Amino acid sequence: MPGIVIVGTQWGDEGKGKIVDFLSEKADCVVRYGGGANAGHTVVVEGKTYKFHIVPSGAVYGRKLYIGNGLVLDPEVLLQEIEALNKNGLAPDLHISDRAHIVFDFHKIIDGLEEKFKGRLSAGTTRRGIGPTYSDKVARFGIRVADLLDEDALRRKLDILLELKQRIITRVYDAKESLDKEEILRRYLQFGQRISDSVCDVSLEINSALDNGQTVIFEGAQGTLLDIDHGVYPYGTSSNPTAGGACTGVGVGPTKITKVIGVTKAYTSRVGTGPVPTELKGEIGERIREKGGEYGTTTGRPRRCGWFDVVPVTYSIRVNDISELALTKLDVLSGIDPIRLCLHYKSEDEIIREIPADLKIYEKCRPVYEELEGWSSSVEWSKVAQEGYDALPQHAKAYVERIQELVRVPIKIISVGPQRKDTIVTED
Ligand code: IMP
Repeated sequence: MPGIVIVGTQWGDEGKGKIVDFLSEKADCVVRYGGGANAGHTVVVEGKTYKFHIVPSGAVYGRKLYIGNGLVLDPEVLLQEIEALNKNGLAPDLHISDRAHIVFDFHKIIDGLEEKFKGRLSAGTTRRGIGPTYSDKVARFGIRVADLLDEDALRRKLDILLELKQRIITRVYDAKESLDKEEILRRYLQFGQRISDSVCDVSLEINSALDNGQTVIFEGAQGTLLDIDHGVYPYGTSSNPTAGGACTGVGVGPTKITKVIGVTKAYTSRVGTGPVPTELKGEIGERIREKGGEYGTTTGRPRRCGWFDVVPVTYSIRVNDISELALTKLDVLSGIDPIRLCLHYKSEDEIIREIPADLKIYEKCRPVYEELEGWSSSVEWSKVAQEGYDALPQHAKAYVERIQELVRVPIKIISVGPQRKDTIVTED
């Protein structure tokens, strides 16, 4: 009954897609448990690049794929994504929870209006309607996948919801968009028809897969520091990317989770606003961004890059109960010498080792660094990946081992390039 959760230990974009694909070789099912089209997971196999926003990254291995109830589902984006994957030679075996909530176009409009209104408190969202859809879910106004298959139910719910949203758009935000109920009804019923064959009770299917001894990967999106409860509030997303979200976002009990693997990038990146104590605003940050391709998969925005920070990673290890790590993008740091690692923070004279809840304190935190020697930029990483851990440059090995020592969790996978084959397993 292996239920394996893959969770991001930083601010998202850690390379979870690549690691989920890599581990899918030995899995039967892959299920996404939270977020929506704000995610952008990339898998590169034999020179072909596959981009996923909603479809789980186990698609390249042809695994059974599930979209859990914890997602907010934009059916238009999903259908476009499936079409693009079909063109790229994949036919995802996709199953969608009847309980996932639907992102409507008006959620995206309101996302933009809310961001503008929030000013300094805006998180710099992806404008995919994520926050407004989760808000409706929690306020019990939400419309779920099952409702798209039932015209009467959808009409009744839209009657109330659209009236409310129109008032918000016009009277609260003084905006011009007008919502045409019949058009929205027609459009979303059509989406419902197109996905109807894939709709099912995902909790039932995943529990039965686990009970039958199958391996299920719970694919996290975003990262721990973006979590609505455990992230740097309010500069995060509106879901629970943390491991607990896998239980509520799919409908399995906590004892069904046998292992939590954290994905950690060899440096830090953040897209959107909020404090990032190790951010590098100069030439080295620029170099990491360019070499690491640190531009949002969903929005194309440049990511803020910085040194590896032990504080968020050890915090993530605690809140997710992570027992092993996958370290990604080690190759990106080649040629940078020295390399710095943030051990903890200092705020005034106080040493801070945990993420503070109080933003005023977090904003004042200054990183305390340790310096390590870098390694050459002329490493042939695909050769290193083929030969294994011992072939890593000596200083790269020292960097990995120092991180491991500081976070006190074994690093069992090291990714040294975007391709599936550019991956080193340190032990079985
Ligand atoms: P939202 O999820 O679109 O509401 O965005 C909220 C915050 O989370 C913003 O700062 C986004 O940049 C960030 N965010 C959302 N999804 C991702 C992701 O997949 N990777 C990295 N950052 C994300």
